[in-house]
Amino acid sequence: MTDPAHGAQHSAAAFHAVYGAEPHGTWAAPGRVNLIGEHTDYNDGFVMPLALPHTTIAAAAPRTDGVLRLHSAGAPGGTVALHLDDLRPAPDAGWAAYPAGVVWAMREAGHPVGGADLHFTSTVPLGAGLSSSAALEVATALALDDLHGLGLPRAELARLAQRAENAFVGVPCGIMDQTAAACCTAGHALFLDTRDLTHRHVPFDLGAQRLRLLVVDTRVRHRLGDGAYAKRRAGCERGARALGVRALRDIPYAHLPEALAALPPEPDLRALVRHVVTENHRVEQTVAHLDAGRPRAIGPLLTAGHASLRDDFRVSCPELDLAVEAAGAAGALGARMTGGGFGGSALVLVDEDAARPVTEALHTAFATAGHTPPRIFPAVPGPGARRLTP
Ligand code: GLA
Repeated sequence: MTDPAHGAQHSAAAFHAVYGAEPHGTWAAPGRVNLIGEHTDYNDGFVMPLALPHTTIAAAAPRTDGVLRLHSAGAPGGTVALHLDDLRPAPDAGWAAYPAGVVWAMREAGHPVGGADLHFTSTVPLGAGLSSSAALEVATALALDDLHGLGLPRAELARLAQRAENAFVGVPCGIMDQTAAACCTAGHALFLDTRDLTHRHVPFDLGAQRLRLLVVDTRVRHRLGDGAYAKRRAGCERGARALGVRALRDIPYAHLPEALAALPPEPDLRALVRHVVTENHRVEQTVAHLDAGRPRAIGPLLTAGHASLRDDFRVSCPELDLAVEAAGAAGALGARMTGGGFGGSALVLVDEDAARPVTEALHTAFATAGHTPPRIFPAVPGPGARRLTP
């Protein structure tokens, strides 16, 4: 169910069923795929996500008694009720920690956010590397922003959502997913500088170019909180320190050989630095191709990005590698894992006519390897977070 009008109606009805009253509005925030620029966001680098049509919808109404009630359709455990005074960082508190963390982060930042009833429905696949958490956080942030008439800029909502995830939920993610959910626009990829959140909407009209972007959910469920992500992040920070820069973003591509030679001989450090510096360069090349009206030319950059994530950054897995390999062999223009890795989804850029044979080849390759069948769907860049009703 990705039709927003239907989604809003359904969400308001579900709110009524749980809380016995009408919501004051409904707000949607999308999942995302990242076209290119992976594991660059916590290095102050460049990313290029686009919003999926899949959204999380928050129906909400304010309360005057300082109580926050949270309910997610499909999540076990029913309604969670908390008093605002009792909000404390709560890793392992399950799904409710994400919206509770957003309320906490907004209040910590001095915004006058009071109690509320919130109800969530979502079509963003969970644990598929498509940013279901950021969609939940940003839907919450936008709903509260609107309910309280705060008028906070989108980038600020993204920062508050990231703070919720870092400091309240305890996941050391970067800022890409929250900014994608808050700032993307339909028909465009978001070229984002994660150092200062300046961004540009780059037209990416797949249909007009007779192209398709396929998302391949491997069904291998990933978790960012399990240490491997934090380890990569810490390695990048050590690399930046060793090179005397604020972040790896500050190493120009042209200086990569000298930078690699100057690193201490710590295992894996060179490979981590090489990935980040080359990946930033690939984002810039991708933007240049799209600006010049050459979308097919980004294919090899996507595939090169995957090789770098697989071999240098080492965040891929056999299912993602197989998806990229099988898509390439069946005639895709390019393919790569997207998101944090260790499972989740790959994306595949294909000519319209090749979408079907490539999809079939992917299903065959997964079946032959004995993997769970992937879920494959086309992505068209959708809008970012927005109020749906009234
Ligand atoms: C996850 C994180 C993002 C980003 C990507 C990798 O999606 O939430 O901040 O680091 O991994 O690019």
